[in-house]
Amino acid sequence: MIARPASLAVRVPGDKSISHRALICAVLASGRSRIKNILPSADVRSTAGVLGALGARVPKLADDMRVDGRGLAGLAAPSEPLDCGNSGTTARLMSGVLSGCPFPSRLIGDASLSRRPMGRVARPLATMGAQFAFDAGEHLPMVVTGGRLRPIEFDSPTASAQVKSAILLAGLVGGVPVTVREPVRSRDHTERMLAALGVQVRSLGLEASLEPASDLSAFQLDVPADPSSAAFFAALAAAGGVRGGGPLELTDVALNPTRLGFFRVLRDMGADVAWEVHRDECGEPVGTITVAPRGLEGVEVRSEQVPAMIDELPMLACLATLADGVTEIRGASELRVKESDRIAAVVENLRVVGADADELRDGLRVRGNRRGRSLGGAVRTHGDHRLAMAFGVLGALSGNAITVDDPDCVSVSYPGFWSDLERVTA
Ligand code: S3P
Repeated sequence: MIARPASLAVRVPGDKSISHRALICAVLASGRSRIKNILPSADVRSTAGVLGALGARVPKLADDMRVDGRGLAGLAAPSEPLDCGNSGTTARLMSGVLSGCPFPSRLIGDASLSRRPMGRVARPLATMGAQFAFDAGEHLPMVVTGGRLRPIEFDSPTASAQVKSAILLAGLVGGVPVTVREPVRSRDHTERMLAALGVQVRSLGLEASLEPASDLSAFQLDVPADPSSAAFFAALAAAGGVRGGGPLELTDVALNPTRLGFFRVLRDMGADVAWEVHRDECGEPVGTITVAPRGLEGVEVRSEQVPAMIDELPMLACLATLADGVTEIRGASELRVKESDRIAAVVENLRVVGADADELRDGLRVRGNRRGRSLGGAVRTHGDHRLAMAFGVLGALSGNAITVDDPDCVSVSYPGFWSDLERVTA
């Protein structure tokens, strides 16, 4: 329970994972869908652009938009390469959709995305019958040629919602049953959305299965706020960095348990954290998170906790500099294949600003100090939005003086981040 009510509140922008899926499902549905509060960020624009190049009429991203569905078999061969920009979710989820489409598509991306592994989706989708051709290695550019698919029961070596979703979407578009088992449960937005739209999806423990459907219902969705974006402000509040040093309320947030790992760990570190569900949105619980400051202690994060907080680990590592004792994150080698090598980049920058951090093969270690000296220096983001925001929060704490080389890279997931940060700290 939070001791004092919060006088400051933030509604961060719409959830990125749900926004991608909402656009894809709206285009595959029959009829007109209405989407409110979609995340208007560069990554979601990449998905909209790719769907547009496949013949869908996707309007400019707006607070209240309508999308006309083309049905499960309604996408057309593109006349140009499909540009996924910086977005791994676009590339991987669309690989699944395209595996069920009877034409070739060439997927391209920016320099960061072109370094990220695509074999993890190509292998199971090729087993289902799609063809994949790479220019080099298992990276973009790649050509996906879809066709008649076979059912699959896939044991995924990685806990990845993008891999799981690619296979579920291939099953949906290709009209075949699929089952995916994962080593640890990853975010389940695809399962929840497809079930809400009338598809037979079973999600039990570490296994998700889909039965073929003849069509997908059009829908209305008010996209809840992104818990991964909310995490930056939760960290700020936990560290006493909100104006007046008091608690902060994060409103209308997606409270899907597969996304709340950071908030659970924040509580383990000693922060005062509470959340409450207020409504359901296409199968997603939505509500308020309240965070109040308290002295923080170091914490251990293990592999089974990682998927539910994978995108929040840079923020956790920065916050650990303010916690008494050692924080150790293990079983997180997936961080090495995100928008940057987030293990190397976080540790490099923590050292630049004067913190005590070590790189581990599958994670990192930070020795923190609640009454430690001020942190200062120039952070190199490597163009990674989550690094920019994590160090932005650290820099906003009193006594610290941190600059970020590429503040604009936050546009990938949270275009208004710097002004929201200013508003709650000034
Ligand atoms: C996402 C899944 C995660 C996450 C990414 C979004 C999704 O990636 O890091 O930001 O929307 O499915 P992985 O599936 O590769 O872990």
